[in-house]
Amino acid sequence: MNTVFERDLQAKGFIDVAIDPTIDLVEEINRLKQEKNAVILAHYYQESEIQDLADYIGDSLGLSQQAAKTDADVIVFAGVHFMAETAKILSPGKKVLLPDLKAGCSLSDSCPPHLFAKFKEQYPDHLVITYVNCTAELKALSDIVCTSSNAVQIVESLPEDQKIIFGPDRNLGDYVKRKTGRDLVLWNGACMVHEIFSQERIDALKAEYPGAKFIAHPECEEHILAQADYVGSTSGMLKFTIEDPSQTYIVATESGILYQMQKASPHKTFIPAPPNNACACNDCPHMKLNTLEKLYNCLYYKQPEIILSEDVIARARRPIERMLEISARLGL
Ligand code: 13P
Ligand code: SF4
Repeated sequence: MNTVFERDLQAKGFIDVAIDPTIDLVEEINRLKQEKNAVILAHYYQESEIQDLADYIGDSLGLSQQAAKTDADVIVFAGVHFMAETAKILSPGKKVLLPDLKAGCSLSDSCPPHLFAKFKEQYPDHLVITYVNCTAELKALSDIVCTSSNAVQIVESLPEDQKIIFGPDRNLGDYVKRKTGRDLVLWNGACMVHEIFSQERIDALKAEYPGAKFIAHPECEEHILAQADYVGSTSGMLKFTIEDPSQTYIVATESGILYQMQKASPHKTFIPAPPNNACACNDCPHMKLNTLEKLYNCLYYKQPEIILSEDVIARARRPIERMLEISARLGL
């Protein structure tokens, strides 16, 4: 990093060069995508305008499957840092861009690799399963990675007497324990977005919409999951609302997914489960750091880029590939 521009970029983590106000951003992003042979992968928690521009929209599992098989030269990851890292690990020869490098994850932050390494040392005979919402360094300390789509099935695919450490999400870990009956050793991490749903406000919504189904992401706390008609990943929840005959859903996860739910079922009503603050819905502040402007600059300058050492890529790749192999075998 030499020039003032590059130093500025490094300090900010994104490019905030002013954009010609007369250009059509959507048109230009599509043009740049062709010109640079780039693909845009977007998570369901992105702003609707970014979802509309994406070549693929999905949950963490779907996004990593896409990252592993794309033949584009450049992957623009409209999501958070750990997701873009996963794409880089699976496609190390490609340029992987994240519109804002500061788009982190509170759950990933709740599990620093050096502390997890000490935790792991206490259980030398345990296999380590890590939820994909963690750093590449943490994945490198793991035996198998999982996502919210396949955590239960991955644990079930292991022999019953296999001792297991599960991290970093204690809520997903608890959910997997309840579903599988296995006794997992859990790291005590959590997501700031999924832990602030208000029981009182959810009860009020249920009273207001008595026919509504309540659906929740497994990162929510046990008392929230206990009342859910369906628990699953973002794509699992979306599929449920398409296939289920009900007309109204109260949705306990980040509000971005409601956009695809509404698009897929325009005649149905989707209500975000409210948090325990003054807001009507839960937004992930990290996911929402990505904007159309940053996406444009990121494609234009081919920066900021995810850089990982060869050593971390090599060590983190195996547990992710194990997850993809098990998922493919189980048809997930
Ligand atoms: P999904 O696995 O459903 O994509 O969830 C990712 C996530 O970050 C949830 O907070
Ligand atoms: Fe991380 Fe939670 Fe945001 Fe998902 S919603 S990216 S787990 S902070």
